[in-house]
Amino acid sequence: MKKDKDNAMPNSHLHELFVDELRDILGAEKQLLKGLKKMAEKAVSEKLKTAFTEHQTETAEQIERLKQIFMLMNLSITAKKCEAMEGLLNEAEEIIDDFEYNEALDAALIAAAQKIEHYEIASYGCLVTYASLMEHEEAKGLLEITLAQEKETDRKLTDIAMSEANVMA
Ligand SMILES: [Fe+2]
Repeated sequence: MKKDKDNAMPNSHLHELFVDELRDILGAEKQLLKGLKKMAEKAVSEKLKTAFTEHQTETAEQIERLKQIFMLMNLSITAKKCEAMEGLLNEAEEIIDDFEYNEALDAALIAAAQKIEHYEIASYGCLVTYASLMEHEEAKGLLEITLAQEKETDRKLTDIAMSEANVMA
């Protein structure tokens, strides 16, 4: 493990990248809060509506967890606009417009939501790795809680797709 001579923190060359990625995912989560509200409104299956609403609550918690990390590290709580999330949410909007009166609407919503979850899983996965390499144990613990929630949401969406969302229709 690379240790900086003047700095007790191992792998301190990752610090700037870690902070930048934290700001990106904070922006992404804030953007997603609004997107999930719309997706919950449009979902037909009650199970899917509930999944979106529950994930909205979790997203708000995830934002709080990120703020906690900024505070732990004495950083200002600043979000960066996440271009990837904006693109994914634009696609979700587009799919809602195209499939609003189609019986595949729920399946389309699930596909859009899973693309979003996979982006988040990749982001949190990298953040956990950086936190681990820099030995930010508290931050790592918080990020792991969120990563587990994102994976669980993705799994739930797959279950709903298989059981409810007319995917097999
Ligand atoms: Fe999230």
